[in-house]
Amino acid sequence: MGKLKLAMVAAMSLTNGIGKDGGLPWRLKGEMAYFRSVTSHVAEDEKREGARNAVIMGRKTWASIPPRFRPLAGRVNIVISRTSSAKDLGIDPESKDVHLFASVEQALAHLAAPQSGIHRVFVLGGAQLYRNMMSLDSNVATVDQLLVTRILAPQYECDAFFPEFRTAQQYKSELDHANAIAGAGQVGSEQPASTLTRQEWTQASPESLREYLGSACPAALADSKDMVTNEGETWYQYQLWEKTG
Ligand SMILES: NC(=O)c1ccc[n+]([C@@H]2O[C@H](COP(=O)([O-])OP(=O)(O)OC[C@H]3O[C@@H](n4cnc5c(N)ncnc54)[C@H](OP(=O)(O)O)[C@@H]3O)[C@@H](O)[C@H]2O)c1
Repeated sequence: MGKLKLAMVAAMSLTNGIGKDGGLPWRLKGEMAYFRSVTSHVAEDEKREGARNAVIMGRKTWASIPPRFRPLAGRVNIVISRTSSAKDLGIDPESKDVHLFASVEQALAHLAAPQSGIHRVFVLGGAQLYRNMMSLDSNVATVDQLLVTRILAPQYECDAFFPEFRTAQQYKSELDHANAIAGAGQVGSEQPASTLTRQEWTQASPESLREYLGSACPAALADSKDMVTNEGETWYQYQLWEKTG
């Protein structure tokens, strides 16, 4: 059997900002609905066999979800914490919907088991877990897709970041695109802390993203040429990045 393939899911600013003061820097209802539908979507034939997707998150991201919304419905929730007990985190140890593991390796071994009934596996963050998973060196799993919601404008202040996965040229082309959408001067020219010298990730076409999403693609974007949309003043783009080579 091949390795378990993982997709990371994150909404991030142009410089990969993902969080502020333990929460999200923005409030985007449409983006939340997209997140829910992408991470819950199971292909029809697998659905008949009762398969569900799994979502893996760090302890602080679990804690940031209001108790009435967790575990995230319709998905197997996996929480990683070295230090907290299920009781500390309000997790029922008997639940089939949420499991606590003390390490990423234990969680992946659980998900890779042949009878796990899992369709797709998504890594939901936050910053610490994304960092760990970006440098994952495992015999059982590999991260090969990034489902990014790129916040193009305005520039939100952030204090938590997704690891940089672009070259300087890939960053520049995103900056140029954001300027074209939002109007020159609206986006700023802040540089990411570090960019890669060799390309490791390639942005897939909008058609490939739509194919991946299937019926989870928002109806309004079914024919979109660039998967860009907005909620009020906030402009953003749904992206799929794939591991190069
Ligand atoms: N924009 C987005 O898409 C998005 C998505 C998710 C989160 N966020 C934001 O990200 C921020 C939170 O990120 P964060 O880095 O502070 O927290 P986090 O990654 O959610 O949680 C960190 C905690 O998870 C546990 N953990 C992480 N990696 C582990 C490993 N390899 N082994 C064992 N335990 C591990 C540890 O828990 P213990 O300390 O209990 O051992 C660690 O303290 C918030 O601002 C949140 O809103 C944004």
